Amino acid sequence: MPTDKQMAGTVGRWAPDSWRTKPIRQVPQYPDESKLRAAEARLSTYPPLVFAGEARRLKDLLAKVTRGEAFLLQGGDCAESFAEFHPNNIRDTFRVMLQMAVVLTFGGATPVVKVGRLAGQFAKPRSADTEVIGGVELPSYRGDIINGFDFNADARIPDPDRMVQAYNQAASTLNLLRAFAQGGYADLHKVHQWTLGFVAKSPQGERYRDLADRLDETLAFMNACGITGETTPQIRETELFTSHEALLLPYEQALTRIDSTSGDWYDVSAHMLWIGDRTRQPDGAHVEFLRGVKNPIGLKCGPSMDPDELIRLIDLLNPEDEPGRLTLIVRMGHDQVEDKFPPLLRRVLREGRQVVWSCDPMHGNTVKSSTGYKTRPFDRILAEVRGFMEVCRAEGARPGGVHFEMTGQDVTECTGGAQAITDTLLGQRYHTACDPRLNASQALELAFLLAEQLKAMRSGLPRPRVAAE
Ligand code: PEP
Ligand code: CO
Repeated sequence: MPTDKQMAGTVGRWAPDSWRTKPIRQVPQYPDESKLRAAEARLSTYPPLVFAGEARRLKDLLAKVTRGEAFLLQGGDCAESFAEFHPNNIRDTFRVMLQMAVVLTFGGATPVVKVGRLAGQFAKPRSADTEVIGGVELPSYRGDIINGFDFNADARIPDPDRMVQAYNQAASTLNLLRAFAQGGYADLHKVHQWTLGFVAKSPQGERYRDLADRLDETLAFMNACGITGETTPQIRETELFTSHEALLLPYEQALTRIDSTSGDWYDVSAHMLWIGDRTRQPDGAHVEFLRGVKNPIGLKCGPSMDPDELIRLIDLLNPEDEPGRLTLIVRMGHDQVEDKFPPLLRRVLREGRQVVWSCDPMHGNTVKSSTGYKTRPFDRILAEVRGFMEVCRAEGARPGGVHFEMTGQDVTECTGGAQAITDTLLGQRYHTACDPRLNASQALELAFLLAEQLKAMRSGLPRPRVAAE
């Protein structure tokens, strides 16, 4: 008799297009079916953006995170856009990721797995199908891979050719990221140069400079001992993986290929894909699609997730209980994390499932400011991270990582932080096409908080529970 888990793994035969027979949410209505088919056919002949071996490498690293041997740092834009496509933007996001990773690795003495919301994070789920401005109702903006941001009827028509443009933008973004990661930019000896001009003068900039000075001394000491960039490539180069929400399934399917090395299916549009909180129905199209590809995957868990449903989703998405396959990205909100997270955590621990627990302190903390902007108060973001860590500590689980929206630009989108951005200041540099992002100095502040928490945790963490207890 097959077990429940095996049954769940064999619900129907999976194929790259088996999602098409399932109920689907958040799907754009393309007016021209033949144009859509043509774009899909074109994309399906294009080269993969990532190699399946890299996705397996990320899975191995995430397995280390599951065992508490590393920490996952996943962040980047809420939505990449065609308009903001510029090498400086890519570089600045990359350097903030590097800085955060240094703070965690050196300050928190924890190896860091870096995963960008980058090179493919274009499609956005929306809470309403239409948007009304000044009495005019138009279809909602769903991300540049689908339709245009401008509030006019033409722009809002879903256009399949945008998928091809998004692919091309993702390809050149990834090309630059690979060059930065391996071409010398990420060399630890350059740790001072990663500081962005506007951050340098902030308290976070100062704190970072102190840490970078100490790192310089350490590198000089290591050099004297014969450990250099020549002997140890980890000093002169880094690894950055890519990820996005696998929302636009025609695009994802067109980039799903059999890996000739393993004979398995991989979605080669990114190393890691995740399922959003609005599209995680166990019998829905998005879960169906992602259960069949071998990439490491994420699953957003918002306040409406219940423990039985979560176990059902884990059975579907990780039937073999492979460590590194599944990251649960918890996004409850600062005021709900302590109520809603423990039942999920306890249940998963009790069933002995191997997952990475990651904290998204952004999506449960979005509010409308008194000045009308969608914002996220920075103190609530930090409060959710603290709450998440506290729950993990109390339950004897390992906090595996964080998932956040950030940009290297000097934006004013989230209130608070050391720069004390107020509601009235939000309008100064509010650039996001979707959700409010941390700016570079707020992102660094978050990294320092995490480093402190991880350090404290290491000194007082009870041994993680095992399934049989
Ligand atoms: C997102 O990560 O941009 C997002 C929409 O998140 P969620 O699915 O958790 O709302
Ligand atoms: Co978002």
